[in-house]
Amino acid sequence: MSRYVVTGGAGFIGSTLVRKLLGESGAEVAVIDNFLTGKRSNLDEVSSQIDLQDADIRNYGRIAPILRGADVVYHLAAIPSVPRSIHEPVPSHEVNIDGTFNVLRACAEGKAGKVIFAASSSAYGDTPTLPKVESMLPNPKSPYAAQKLMGEQYISVFHQCFGLNGTALRFFNVYGPRQDPSSPYSGVISIFLRCLVERRSPTIHGDGEQTRDFTFVEDVAGLCIKASRAPGTGGQTFNAGNGGRFSLNKVWQVLNEMEGTNIPANYGPPREGDVRDSMACTKLATAKLGHAPHFSLEEGLRRTLQWYKASHSA
Ligand code: UD1
Repeated sequence: MSRYVVTGGAGFIGSTLVRKLLGESGAEVAVIDNFLTGKRSNLDEVSSQIDLQDADIRNYGRIAPILRGADVVYHLAAIPSVPRSIHEPVPSHEVNIDGTFNVLRACAEGKAGKVIFAASSSAYGDTPTLPKVESMLPNPKSPYAAQKLMGEQYISVFHQCFGLNGTALRFFNVYGPRQDPSSPYSGVISIFLRCLVERRSPTIHGDGEQTRDFTFVEDVAGLCIKASRAPGTGGQTFNAGNGGRFSLNKVWQVLNEMEGTNIPANYGPPREGDVRDSMACTKLATAKLGHAPHFSLEEGLRRTLQWYKASHSA
C-alpha cells in the first residue's frame, strides 16, 4: 500500500497523474488544490476514490499534516504562465516560491519518501543552442522561469541539507485533455483547439515561427511516476520533454488538416518574456529515469481534439 499526494491534482497535468496512480492496486491518493486554476470537474469520475483537500500551499499549517509520511509527493501546484508572472508577479512569487518552500519543508519535516517537482523548460531562456541539455547554464527571462529555477535549487539544497529525496523534472509545453483554454494565460494548444472547435481564428503572437517541444500529458504523467522510482536521482534535475519541436504555424496547420478546415490565423506583436525556440535533449532522462515518450504530436493532438469536441458539445 502506497500513499501518494499530488499538489495541484485538480489541474490538467495533476488530474492525469491522479488517474494513473489510481490504476495501481492499493494506492491511496490525496490531492491538495486551492482551485485557483485547477477544477473540481477535472476529478469528477475519480472523486470518490481520492482524498480531495481544498488547501493552499501558501498555508504551511494546513498542508503539513496532509504531506506527513507520504510515500511520494508530486508537487505540481503552481500559478503557471510566463506572461501572468509578468502581469501579476506577487501571487506568482508567493505560490511558486513560498508555496514550494512550504511543500518541501513539510516533506522534509514529515519524512516523505520522495518528492517530484514540476520544474520548467523556461529556465533555459533564449540561449540559441538546441537541444537544451540539463548541464547548460540557466538563463531565466521571466519571473515564472526564475521561480521554477528556484524550485530546482531548493530540491537540490533540501537534498543536501535535510536529506529530502527530491527530483525536479523540467516540463516542456505540456498539452492534452482537460487543459483549460479559458484564460489569456492558457497554454497555446488549448487556445488553438477551442478556436478550431468554434471555427474562429486564433491570434499568434509574433510570426508563428517560434518553436516548442510540445509534450503530451500522458507522457509527462508517466515520467513523473518513473522518476519517483528511479534510484540515485535525489537533488537532480531532468528534462521531461519529447525531444522534437514544432512551430505554432505548423501546429495550427496540422489542426486545420485534422478538421478539414482552412481557418487563417491572425498575427499580433510578439509576447514579452517569450523565448524563441525550445527543444529538450532527452538523453539523461532516458538513461536515468527510463523516459520513453510514446505520443507523436499528431497522435497527441488527435486525442486532445477529440476531448475538446466532446466537452464542447456536452
Ligand atoms: C512556458 C514554458 C513551459 C511551461 C509554461 C507554463 C518555455 C519554452 N516553455 O511555456 O515549459 O510549462 O511556460 O505556462 O518557456 N501564443 C500565441 N497565442 C496564444 C497563446 C500563446 O501565439 O493565444 C504563443 C506564445 O507567445 C508562445 C507560444 O505560443 O510563443 C507558447 O505559449 P504558451 O503556451 O503560453 O507557453 P510558453 O510560454 O512557451
